[in-house]
Amino acid sequence: MTRYLLVSRSAEYETRLRRLLRARLQTVPGEYLTFGPGEVVDRVTDHPRVALLGPLLSFEETSTLTASLAQEHPGIGVIVVREQRSDLEDWVDGIEIHAVLSPEATDATTEALLDRLDSWLTASGRLPATSDDANEVDDLADLESALDLVDLGGNEATESPTDADAVVAVAEVEPSEPDWVLPPIGDTVRTEVIVVAAPKGGQGKTTTAINLAAGLAEVAPNSVVLVDADVQFGDIANALDLAPQYSLVDVANAGHDEVALKALLTHHDDDFFVIAAPPSPELADEITGEALGEFLARLATMFRYVIVDTTPGLGEHALAALEQATDGVFVTNFTVPSLRALRKEFELLVALQLVPANRHVIVNFVEKNTGLVLKDAEAILGARVDVQVPRSLGVVLASNAGVPLIHHDVRDPAAKAIRGVVLRIDPNAVPTRKRIQRKARAK
Ligand SMILES: Nc1ncnc2c1ncn2[C@@H]1O[C@H](COP(=O)(O)OP(=O)(O)OP(=O)(O)O)[C@@H](O)[C@H]1O
Ligand SMILES: [Mg+2]
Repeated sequence: MTRYLLVSRSAEYETRLRRLLRARLQTVPGEYLTFGPGEVVDRVTDHPRVALLGPLLSFEETSTLTASLAQEHPGIGVIVVREQRSDLEDWVDGIEIHAVLSPEATDATTEALLDRLDSWLTASGRLPATSDDANEVDDLADLESALDLVDLGGNEATESPTDADAVVAVAEVEPSEPDWVLPPIGDTVRTEVIVVAAPKGGQGKTTTAINLAAGLAEVAPNSVVLVDADVQFGDIANALDLAPQYSLVDVANAGHDEVALKALLTHHDDDFFVIAAPPSPELADEITGEALGEFLARLATMFRYVIVDTTPGLGEHALAALEQATDGVFVTNFTVPSLRALRKEFELLVALQLVPANRHVIVNFVEKNTGLVLKDAEAILGARVDVQVPRSLGVVLASNAGVPLIHHDVRDPAAKAIRGVVLRIDPNAVPTRKRIQRKARAK
């Protein structure tokens, strides 16, 4: 059985590793990556336990290949074979890797690392035991400290002082998946009602909702309605520079005639409809949570996509909207208090059995050097982060111009990230030249 897989662009390293691991190793030339990770994964004949990736693979290649391997061979251990250390932190943060090994590492170090990672994969429950695991150390704590020893270099796991740096990091060695609050996603359902929610104010709900509407309207023109259900202080009309004649209260109370109802909607130039929040906070009392829920269910029969912006927290209206949601888009900023608050929100939604079938976790205002990395955020949240949106001046400029960011500045980094949210919902919503030019002409 081949236990190990090597994907490398160095014939010299391949020869060395083949000599060391013999029949336990399968190799796939890194050149196949030019045609995408699928070309490599298709050539893997067995179920390798550990993949060694490198030398001479780019970050992008390693990242996509790691994701494809993890999908095809769940639980697989990943070692990056790489000399350069200066940008190692980015690699470790950005890719789910278990160890980084120098191509110069001695055979003994290489074997020691492979053995320990292999045993750890069994002990942590990621992979089933193999017959030759029987005599391995099976105490997880021992294994983890063994891996740490390798991590630190100069100790019994390494052979000589020159080898001390050979294994530069054993990263991401966690005993098991963090304890996820959100249960794994089941069969997804067809997206109809997308509710954007956040436990705290000012996290980017409105920005996300507006851009979702603009992006989805590219593929479903005039079949998208954006509902401002931030009933007291909703500001979608302002952010889009619209002067609606009717608000949520008027439209929701307009009765069941579809034509009459559509006549009360505000049309946006980017081919979607808007239902603005009531013009003053006291009017919010004129629509109950229950009425909002019924109204959203009605809109879902009339439009391909209903996008709902909400009040921060889980008040009556937000809960009523979530009850109708096929998709929940949860937004938080990149700070510990907000991440913790969103975790509490998830816990409550799980308890109430109101977690939407499809969900998307967005971390907004992401910045470097805040002392937090993605993994910390996920551990705090108890959920995977699906999209990271960087802090960007472009968001404010678009809002001031009253134009959805993804159409105001296509190249803005936050616009690109938010486009990622749109694509999660409809993969066809790619920004084509024709669409962008049409939008530009319309302005
Ligand atoms: N990634 C970002 N970079 C920079 N500014 C941003 C970003 N996302 C949002 N903003 C700005 O932060 C402010 C709050 O964003 P937004 O109104 O979307 O949040 P919200 O969750 O809807 O807030 P509220 O709870 O008040 O309704 C806005 O001025 C917006 O332009
Ligand atoms: Mg808002």
